[in-house]
Amino acid sequence: MKTKSAWTRKDLLGLEPLSREELELVLATAESFKEVIGRTVKKVPALRGKTVVNLFYEPSTRTRVSFEIAAKRLSADVINIATEESSVRKGETLIDTGRNIEALKVDIIIVRHNCSGAAAMLARHMRASVINAGDGWHEHPTQALLDMFTLKEKLGRLEGIRVSIVGDIAHSRVARSNIWGLTKMGAHVTVCAPPLLIPSQVERMGVRVTSSIDEALDGADAINVLRMQFERDTDGAFPRQLEYFKTYGITVERLEKAKKDILVMHPGPINRGIEMASDVADGANSVILEQVTNGIAVRMAVLFLVAQANEPAKKSEKKNETKR
Ligand code: CP
Repeated sequence: MKTKSAWTRKDLLGLEPLSREELELVLATAESFKEVIGRTVKKVPALRGKTVVNLFYEPSTRTRVSFEIAAKRLSADVINIATEESSVRKGETLIDTGRNIEALKVDIIIVRHNCSGAAAMLARHMRASVINAGDGWHEHPTQALLDMFTLKEKLGRLEGIRVSIVGDIAHSRVARSNIWGLTKMGAHVTVCAPPLLIPSQVERMGVRVTSSIDEALDGADAINVLRMQFERDTDGAFPRQLEYFKTYGITVERLEKAKKDILVMHPGPINRGIEMASDVADGANSVILEQVTNGIAVRMAVLFLVAQANEPAKKSEKKNETKR
């Protein structure tokens, strides 16, 4: 597949540094790959001969599995490293683990880590491409890209649409990546959370802020509901679960006051009965499982683009090796 304009990044670490053109390129490339995964033979040879490693220091279902499927659909070889069964348990650092994986001639490392900045640090030490699959509270770029892809697919555009992100904004890498991506594409973003779960100065990212769920729902084309990340509550900022559901939980009654065709999104995993009622999660407005499916096409696009951008560096490395 030929890309319409040049993608020059060896890594994908976040959406903050990406231009609108780069975001458009990823979404357009994902559109072509969505066609591929709808075929009977869902495979193309784009990454034949490449090796992709999933290096996850935190649990994951959707991201890890969809990266694995995406890489396999592109004909790459895929290795999954469960850090709890690896030498990480013996104290090996992230950089040492990365360097050793690279010594095994790996082309792309997909990393999820509980520390913000971990993916960027790894990328600085690697010739291999690094894709951030979620780093601490910082960014989860492929989640936001698949959210944007789903919105564009459903609404036909991103420019001018109204998206409300509801939940634990303070601890959410998904919220941060969505805000960077959606605002660059011209969408109007509102964030809604209890005051203690709204990061200070988030308005500077170009979003409207509210603590009223009714305000967040009013006029929204889509609502992206975040998981309450109770495991990250180190400072007692979280309301009790029942209290949260009563004030912010997305229920059928609340949705009745919103646009009839409002899209209900969630990056997963869902805490049913805490941030969202089951009949909303499984209801007619929900596109949650379509988001998951779209993750494959989006991750195929990202793998393809970073691999292509890193090719010249790899070739010159090989040339130097031959000369020696
Ligand atoms: N949305 C998301 O990152 O889900 P996983 O934690 O299952 O990968």
